[in-house]
Amino acid sequence: MIAKIDHLGIAVNSLQEGLAVWGDLLRLESAGTETVAEQGVRTAFLNVGDTRLELLEPTGPDTPVGRFLAKRGPGFHHVCFLVEDLEATLRQLQARGMRLVDEKPRRGAEGSTVAFLHPSSTGGVLVELKQKRRESVG
Ligand code: CO
Repeated sequence: MIAKIDHLGIAVNSLQEGLAVWGDLLRLESAGTETVAEQGVRTAFLNVGDTRLELLEPTGPDTPVGRFLAKRGPGFHHVCFLVEDLEATLRQLQARGMRLVDEKPRRGAEGSTVAFLHPSSTGGVLVELKQKRRESVG
């Protein structure tokens, strides 16, 4: 069901501040930035071997990442697992009693669909599930 760790999400006050640490100091290669308006974030991906870090800057204080920063400050935010079939995975997890933040997949970065699991069901870790954009078949 879970194929691999797609990325680790890190909340930052600003992408500039985050990229100064993870890009300039640790020399991770930037893989581009994107604003995901639906989730109230600007993201920057950094390559780490065959996985990545995702820096998350809120677009405003009244967003999930904005509230996270106000409460806890910058730092580790979520782990993202790649799955083949997000809808089916959500149904299976729900049947096993998992509490979901998103009952339906929604739009994520890079044309993917994503859904979050509630930390109260995962021992305190926010988990994102991601299905890659399907290649169009003509
Ligand atoms: Co993510």
